Formats: sequence, structure tokens, C-alpha cells
Amino acid sequence: MAYLEMQSIYKSFNQVPVLKDVTLELQQGEIHALIGENGAGKSTLMNILGGVHQPDKGLIKLNGQAVEMTSPKKSQEYGISFIHQELNLVSDLRVYENMFLGSEIRNKFGFVNVEEMCRQTTDILTKLGVHINPKEYVRNLGTSYKQLIEISRALLHKSKIIIMDEPTTALSDHEIDRLFDLMRNLKEDCISIIYISHKLKEIKSVCDRLTVLRDGKTVKTGDLESETLDSITHDMVGKSLSEDRMIEHEELGSTVLKVEDLSSPEQFKSINFEIKKGEIVGFTGLAGDGRTELFESLFGYRKNYKGDIYVNGKHVIIDHPKKALKAGIGYVPKDRKENAIIQDLNVIQNMSISSLSHFEKNGFIKGKLEQKKFTYYKDQLNIKVHNPRVTIDKLSGGNQQKVIIAKWLELNTDIIIFDNPTQGIDVGAKQEIYQQIIRLAQQGKAVIVLSSEALEIMKICHSVYVMYQGEISGYFKGEDATEDKIMSYATGSKKEAVPVG
Ligand SMILES: Nc1ncnc2c1ncn2[C@@H]1O[C@H](COP(=O)(O)OP(=O)(O)OP(=O)(O)O)[C@@H](O)[C@H]1O
Ligand SMILES: [Mg+2]
Repeated sequence: MAYLEMQSIYKSFNQVPVLKDVTLELQQGEIHALIGENGAGKSTLMNILGGVHQPDKGLIKLNGQAVEMTSPKKSQEYGISFIHQELNLVSDLRVYENMFLGSEIRNKFGFVNVEEMCRQTTDILTKLGVHINPKEYVRNLGTSYKQLIEISRALLHKSKIIIMDEPTTALSDHEIDRLFDLMRNLKEDCISIIYISHKLKEIKSVCDRLTVLRDGKTVKTGDLESETLDSITHDMVGKSLSEDRMIEHEELGSTVLKVEDLSSPEQFKSINFEIKKGEIVGFTGLAGDGRTELFESLFGYRKNYKGDIYVNGKHVIIDHPKKALKAGIGYVPKDRKENAIIQDLNVIQNMSISSLSHFEKNGFIKGKLEQKKFTYYKDQLNIKVHNPRVTIDKLSGGNQQKVIIAKWLELNTDIIIFDNPTQGIDVGAKQEIYQQIIRLAQQGKAVIVLSSEALEIMKICHSVYVMYQGEISGYFKGEDATEDKIMSYATGSKKEAVPVG
């Protein structure tokens, strides 16, 4: 008998059915992958298990006993911990306070025992290889730390079932390895993990079994051993996807962006590159390679850098995003929740917010025009949303990401930088994002794609720069890119001077 059974679960939001007869069985001590396209219902199903939402119909059994997850607290009492896709920490509290929120340790006089909570926090963080002061405020920490703190919190509560909804999006390769080691240890202790991710390779390497959802239904469940990346993709999207390059060798236009000797203390050094009209240039490397810092500087988020930037041959000084936009540079940031979406606005507003002038007449926003434009992007990017007037947090994670991309497409800059554009996007939808990027290039834009996924770079880039410790360590044509080649430059085992011009 399975430890957890979710039987025939149904759930609708505003009369729109999202889960239609979903079944999930979880054994003790297994890592179970829950996969499916953006909007398939994975987070919703887990929200039901986590007591956040109530099912319209269906049964949940733990150890053979029917249970009702009437609230998140109840679910936690049943030994279930939920690490949410969109992180859930309180920024204005300290690390240890977040860890023990609602379950503070008190001494025999009833006072909170700060030192004991700090000690336990440090213990768990150390297991994950994280060294931060437990008294640090969460707001001062980077996203990867926040993700690790959420994971630590689940460990602290000695849960029987841990739900991880895309836990690795903000982690470096090294941190991911540690997390996987830890997950394997948890398994030994008979803890079960439900693991949601769009990174199929990760799933293959760490999970034991899988359940695939498509359009709110369970379409498959079984052992992962007998599956291949291709067979999983096929179950998820209903077809196989090609791994071939999506662009051909093309004649490129004049140089649009040229960067000379850009350096910033401890971030990046002596960066030289240029991009032509119609070109898609990839920047890749391992975490900490400096590429995000480099392009945040180029977009004016960071001021502490030296060097020269030319746009269409004209020297420009960029010390603020406004100046970058004026120079024709756009930047789709990574970490959707922290940098991009505006929670209180609806889906359409999130698309139009940065280019309101496009929709304005005599000081009024023309709702119809806005709506029409949104419909255009909805079709182009296949954004799944029933009613675009709901706040953006009602969309599935991957669909939020697509709205952010639409926002930047609408800004229509000549140069557009995508930082990790397919974060949280399912394998099928990735293809749509790639096509959109290629379309931009065909329209004559210069596109920069920052990505740690070699395959992504190999598929859509005309040329590739690899970075290592803040420097460009390799440069080659997209058609010459291989995973091995990228790795050898990214790890610093190979390095060569980059041809300029
Ligand atoms: N609170 C809500 N109100 C209205 N609709 C919702 C709500 N929560 C989820 N939905 C809708 O339910 C559907 C399934 O969303 P869910 O977040 O479960 O997808 P997912 O499989 O986790 O996708 P992703 O991989 O993009 O995270 C989506 O169409 C979403 O818009
Ligand atoms: Mg989700």
C-alpha cells in the first residue's frame, strides 16, 4: 500500500476545471517526480495536499487512513512540508525566525530561546553547505540562499513528505549536487519527496518514479528507470521534440552593440564583444561566472564599472536602466518573482506597464488596444490564461514567465538581453520561446541570451561566449558548440584569447 494516495482529485477555479480526476500514489522513502506542461495542474495538486486549496472532489489517504487537509497547518501536522515554487519567506525577519516561524523554541520560563534556534538553524544549513549568519535578515540574502532556507525549514520540521516545487531554479550546479545528496539521504530515512521540475535531466538523475499530468489528468505513472528523456517529453507534450539547431547560417547586418574592456571590481574583467543586427549571441558558464553582473551593468542596474559601450557606433554612458532603454537596450531579468512581476496588477497590466504610451490616448489607457495586444502575445507565446483580468499570481509559474517576456517584446528595443529566459518553462513551451527569440533576430534585432543550459545555447545562438570567473574564456560559432566544449571553457580547464571584430 502506498504511503500517500490522492484519488480522483477534481478542482475548478471560477468554473474553470483545472484538475479533472488526478491520481497520485507515493511510497515511503521514494523521490517521486511530478511533471507536466505549464498550467497542467502540478502546483494546484500540491496546494491541495498542502492544505492551501480544498479539492472539489476526491480523497486523500495517509497510511490507508482518509485525511482532510483543511489548512496548511493541518497538512504540516500530518508531516507534510511544502517548498513553494514562488518563495515564501518573510523578508523582514531573520533567517532563524523564518525557520521557526509559528514553532518557536521556548525555555522553561516561556522565553524564546534564540540561541538554541540559531544553533539548530546553523546545524541544518551546514548540512546543505550553506554558511550564513542565522541572525541575518532574509531580505539581505540572494535568491539561492532563500531557496536553501526554505529547504532547510522543511528538514527542520522532520516531515514525512516534502514537496519541492521547482527547488533548483535559483541554485548553482554545486548547490544542486548538494541538494540531491541530501535528498538521497532523506530517502534512506524513509522520507518521501515529491519533486516538481521542468529539468528532465535532473529528474532522471534523482527521482525513482514519476507521475505525468496533462491538462489536469494523470496520463502516466511508473518507474523512471525504463523512461528516456524523449519518452518523458512525449508523455508531457504529446509529441517528440527535435534537439536540432533551430537557426541556419545567416548574413548578419551592421554592428549594433560593441563593448570594450568592460571591468568591474570582483565581478568581471576585460570584457570585449560585439553583436550585429539579426544576431543571437549566447553567454554561458557556471554559476558565479559574472555574466549576470556583466549584463546588469550594461543595463544600468550596476554603476560600478569601467569601459566603453557603443550602440550603433555611438559612445553611450549607461548608469541607469532609463539610459539603457533610451539607448535601445532591453533586459528580461531572471528571478521572475523578485525582479519582474508586479503581484497586485492583472495579467494584461503586467504586459503593458512598461510601455503604457503605446496604449495611451489623451492621457487615457485604451483598454481595447491593450487587450488586443495581449491577445496577440497570448497566441504567439501560447500563454495559458482564462481571464487576463485576474492578478498575475493566479497564473502558473511558467505562464507568468511568458507574460514577462511579452512585456519586453512590447517595449521593442533594438537590443534585447534575456537572462535565463526559459526558467520554469516546460520543454514544449521552450520551443515557443526560442521561436520568438529567433523571430526577433529575423526582424533585425540583436539578441543576447544568458543561459546555463548548453542545449539552449546550441539550438538558437549564432555565436557563443563562455565565461569563467568573470572573464570570457572561450568564443566560437554556434554550429561548433558542443556540451563538452562549453564545459571545458566554463570550468576553466581551457582558455583562449577571444578574437575581436
Ligand atoms: N488561485 C487560482 N485562481 C485561478 N486560477 C488558478 C489559481 N491557481 C491556479 N490556477 C490555474 O490553474 C491552472 C494550473 O495551474 P498550476 O499552477 O497548477 O500549473 P503548474 O502545472 O504548476 O504549471 P507551471 O509548470 O507553469 O508551474 C492554470 O491555468 C492556472 O492559471
Ligand atoms: Mg507550478
